[in-house]
Amino acid sequence: MRNKLIVANWKLNGNIELISNYLDFLKFNLPNNLKDNTIVIVPPFVYLERMSHVVNKMNIFLGAQNVDINLKGAFTGEISVLMLKEIGVKYVIIGHSERRSFHNETNNYIAKKFLLVKNYNLIPILCIGETEQEKRKNQTQKVLKEQLDCIFKTLGELAFRNTVIAYEPIWAIGTGISADPKYVQNIHQFIRNYIEKHDVLSKNITIQYGGSVNSLNIKDFIIQPDIDGFLVGNASLNVQEFLKIIAMCISYFTNE
Ligand code: PGA
Repeated sequence: MRNKLIVANWKLNGNIELISNYLDFLKFNLPNNLKDNTIVIVPPFVYLERMSHVVNKMNIFLGAQNVDINLKGAFTGEISVLMLKEIGVKYVIIGHSERRSFHNETNNYIAKKFLLVKNYNLIPILCIGETEQEKRKNQTQKVLKEQLDCIFKTLGELAFRNTVIAYEPIWAIGTGISADPKYVQNIHQFIRNYIEKHDVLSKNITIQYGGSVNSLNIKDFIIQPDIDGFLVGNASLNVQEFLKIIAMCISYFTNE
């Protein structure tokens, strides 16, 4: 069975009060039958350490939204993989479309981060996905291949062992309009087959979907055989809503 992963990507949101209420609520309401479902919260950097003391006791993991390609030195404003490790971070989101577009991160640059994260035994969550225009021009597979190929080129055939992919069609992120679950299933199957062609053992990679997921629309995604979890933005900021998502995932995934 593939590992199931539900990730809360808070982006540039949250404050000390929200975190304190959020964690208090989770402490008393998080189901204790998480089984093989992994829950990860990814707050802004400055809150990671504060949260690490609490989430460790709750069977929740911490993720970072980004990392630098350097380990240390004169790189003002950056955070290194060593610092993330030191405070107990386990996952790092790499190549989110917001970083690709607002911070000009290229496939090559993202591959360097992916390599570094893996080398230091953290788990990269590689975000890939097409724009609306690319989808309209039937270029989705081509774009995804390019995004994956760059990782293969940098790390070799075994690149995707112990990693996670988040398929996030850019047109569905933060728009309130999620992709069609069957469309996502087809794309996930394509991604899985493409990775399997390079390394048969990587075919069990966890592939999440992200893009306007919430407790009302998640059911139709959960039932798709190649969707192994979710990268949840907006809906994860509300703890009750995020718990509903977790509960629905657990009840489906554990009865699979
Ligand atoms: P969204 O964000 O759920 O708000 O669409 C998802 C993401 O960008 O990871």
